[in-house]
Amino acid sequence: MSAVPDVTLNNGVRIPQLGFGTFQIPPEQTREATLAALETGYRHIDTAQMYGNEKEVGQAVRDSGLDRADVFVTSKLDNGAHAYDDALRAFDGTMDALDLDHLDLFLIHWPLPGRGDFTETWKAMEEIYRSGRAKAVGVSNFQPPHLRRLLEGAQVVPAVNQIEVHPYLTQDAVRSFGAEHEIATEAWSPIAQGKVLGDPVIAEHLA
Ligand SMILES: NC(=O)c1ccc[n+]([C@@H]2O[C@H](COP(=O)([O-])OP(=O)(O)OC[C@H]3O[C@@H](n4cnc5c(N)ncnc54)[C@H](OP(=O)(O)O)[C@@H]3O)[C@@H](O)[C@H]2O)c1
Repeated sequence: MSAVPDVTLNNGVRIPQLGFGTFQIPPEQTREATLAALETGYRHIDTAQMYGNEKEVGQAVRDSGLDRADVFVTSKLDNGAHAYDDALRAFDGTMDALDLDHLDLFLIHWPLPGRGDFTETWKAMEEIYRSGRAKAVGVSNFQPPHLRRLLEGAQVVPAVNQIEVHPYLTQDAVRSFGAEHEIATEAWSPIAQGKVLGDPVIAEHLA
C-alpha cells in the first residue's frame, strides 16, 4: 500500500497527494530523475508542455515497469495555445510526446485573459475530457474572478486548480472558492523552494 494518501477529485478520480514536479529539470536529466522518483515511491509526476520534458517523463513511466494505472501523470497546456483548435492540437502533441495511452490530469497552465479567451480554451478541455484521453481536466493559477467566469459557461467543473501555496502565501480566497465548488486546490512550490525548511517558527513546530 502507498504511504501517500489519495485525494478524490470531483469526478471520482483519485490523485496521490504528494507529487514529483519536473519544472526546470533539463530534458536530458528528466528520465533518470523521474525514474529515481518512481523508485523512491512517488506515484504522481507533474510536467507541462512549457517544461519541454514530457517525452522523457513518458519514457520514465514506461520504463519503470509499473502498471500505468498505478502512476498519476499531469501535464499542462502551453500559454501560446489559448484557443479551441490550438488547445486540441497542443493536447495531441502532449500525447505524442508522452507516448502513454492516457493522461490523468490536463491543466490550463495560466488563465492569461489578455492573451486569449480561456472560456474557449475550456471548451477544448471539456472535449478532451469527454474523449477519455485525459481522466480529469483542470486549471492552474486561476484566481476567483477567473474561476467565476469559467464556471458561468462550463459543462465540466475543473477538477483541480494548481496554484502557488505555502506558509508565506496561503491563498485563502482561492482555496475557499475551490472548496465551495468542489475544485481541489493543488499547491505548487509547497515548500517555497526550500525557504519553509529554514524558517525558525516552522522548525519549532516540526521539532
Ligand atoms: N502550475 C504552475 O504554474 C507551476 C509553477 C511552478 C511549479 N510548478 C510545479 O510544482 C513543482 C514544485 O515546484 P517547486 O520546485 O517550485 O517547489 P518546492 O517543492 O517548493 O521547491 C523545491 C525546491 O526547493 C529547494 N530545496 C531547498 N531545500 C530543500 C530540501 N531540503 N528538500 C527539497 N528541496 C529543497 C530545491 O532546490 P534545488 O533544486 O536548487 O536544490 C527544490 O528544487 C514544479 O516542479 C512543477 O511541477 C507549477
